[in-house]
Amino acid sequence: MLHERIKSSTTEDHKNAERHSYGKEIMSRSLTKAQYAQLLIANYRYIAEWEKQWDLPLDINIEALQLEQRSKTTLLENDLKALGIEPDTITTSSLEAPSNLAQFLGRMYVIEGSTLGGAMIEKQLQFNPNLTGCSFEFYGGYGQKLIPFWKSFLAQLNTVEHPQEQEEAIDWARKCFKEMESCFIKAKSMNLNS
Ligand code: HEM
Repeated sequence: MLHERIKSSTTEDHKNAERHSYGKEIMSRSLTKAQYAQLLIANYRYIAEWEKQWDLPLDINIEALQLEQRSKTTLLENDLKALGIEPDTITTSSLEAPSNLAQFLGRMYVIEGSTLGGAMIEKQLQFNPNLTGCSFEFYGGYGQKLIPFWKSFLAQLNTVEHPQEQEEAIDWARKCFKEMESCFIKAKSMNLNS
């Protein structure tokens, strides 16, 4: 199954992603408001651009993916606005558009998978005294729908069976991890006073 392959092929990438997205600070509940803002900005840069690509005329059957229910741009915008940051002022990343289903699903695996960690992260943020009064819509994400959404995504991911297409999905997942890592590194160099 592609899920097992893609998960084991990206274990190191996930460790790097955690390291670059304040994993320790989140878990020790010491993340500051400015660091939280950096995380939201990094995610917005990537995800807002990625979701714009959903409207591109890609020759892909994406109906089964229920994309309209998976959009995270508005959640990020709401969290940013609650911190006094206007999303329109954030430049989004420039991303290569996928040209087939394997590529699409490879990138989507990383973004959908991150909602699993997101649910755990949201609990830590809720208990973090530095973040009192903040909004956590993005990390709270799918709420009660988290596991059903993840399972239905995996069912689509596992429809990719051809070995060459599986390789392509894995390549795109690894590429997505690296692109997101760059977004985190860039956002962390921003000097925010919120
Ligand atoms: C603070 C940082 C993070 C923490 C603490 C964290 C934690 C977790 C946890 C607990 C899971 C569930 C593991 C399981 O049930 O097997 C998970 C899954 C996942 N996370 Fe993260 N994560 C973090 C950041 C990220 C980031 C930044 C990304 C993407 C760029 C990401 C992508 C994924 C993916 C793709 C999965 C699914 C793995 C699978 O196939 O089961 N994570 N994460």
